[in-house]
Amino acid sequence: MASAGRWSGTDTKDGFEVSDETTTRNAAKAPAATIARAQDQLFDAATGSRRKYAALVVGRPGLFALLAYEFVITLAQPRAGALGLALRKMLYPLLLGACGRNVVFGQNVALRHPHKIRIGNNVVIDDNCLLDAKGETNRGIRLGDGVFIGRNTILSCKNGDIDLGDGANVGFNCELFSASRVTVGRSVLMAAYTYVIGGDHDFSDPAKAVIEQRRVSSGVTIGDGAWIGAGAKILDGVTIGPHAVIGAAAVVREDVPAAAIAVGIPARVVASRGEHA
Ligand SMILES: CC(C)(COP(=O)(O)OP(=O)(O)OC[C@H]1O[C@@H](n2cnc3c(N)ncnc32)[C@H](O)[C@@H]1OP(=O)(O)O)[C@@H](O)C(=O)NCCC(=O)NCCS
Repeated sequence: MASAGRWSGTDTKDGFEVSDETTTRNAAKAPAATIARAQDQLFDAATGSRRKYAALVVGRPGLFALLAYEFVITLAQPRAGALGLALRKMLYPLLLGACGRNVVFGQNVALRHPHKIRIGNNVVIDDNCLLDAKGETNRGIRLGDGVFIGRNTILSCKNGDIDLGDGANVGFNCELFSASRVTVGRSVLMAAYTYVIGGDHDFSDPAKAVIEQRRVSSGVTIGDGAWIGAGAKILDGVTIGPHAVIGAAAVVREDVPAAAIAVGIPARVVASRGEHA
């Protein structure tokens, strides 16, 4: 996997806790980051509600950060129609790490840890999307120029990063989850209902519920110009090469070479599109 070196060599590389062994399918490919559980933070009796809300939603401590977040979200997030679009265009950049020109935020676009979300120019984020950059030591979410995010899509970090290259187009009802690093290249076309699963569960101990075992993550990389068919599932640790095509409803468990066409469950390469630039 191209990004394997990114996770090796140190136990806190890029701010992630890195385990030196993992029992998941991708053990040979890359060490995996261990994922904390949000519930542990949420039900921690030693922490007050305001601090929990700040840690899980606002992303910054202090009363000013909390009030600024509440002001913007209460005023703009649920507002319908043209007034809502105008308010979000004006106010959301106040919370974001960076925001370019001509960025459209649909109704009910929710932001978590917005100071770790950086957005380029000419970006559309349709109604009901969630951009969640949550994490203690992560960089968060970056959307390049010309990115489109379809309605109801979730970009969810658990101390991971999500990076969408210029012109990437993510359809309706997709989920991109990252507990380490999910990279979507330039001009990738991701059809509706795609699930990019950038994190996994250790299930090696049959005596223990899976939910009580470690969570691990190696990340997912999707190369420039790839096309992901509707309803595909891309499992943790996978790299899809540039200009590859993934068939509708495929479950991708292994790397897919550049310009290959892979279909089915599990996804197998059935053809190649030939040389790509
Ligand atoms: C992957 C895809 C592009 C292949 O198209 P194609 O090159 O015309 O493929 P073919 O029809 O020649 O099929 C090649 C083989 O793969 C199989 N196949 C194709 N798509 C498949 C899929 N999604 N799942 C399982 N098998 C599939 C075919 O049955 C055929 O198998 P066979 O050789 O045993 O008969 C297309 O089938 C597909 O899934 N497109 C995604 C559409 C989509 O999600 N659009 C959303 C809009 S953005």
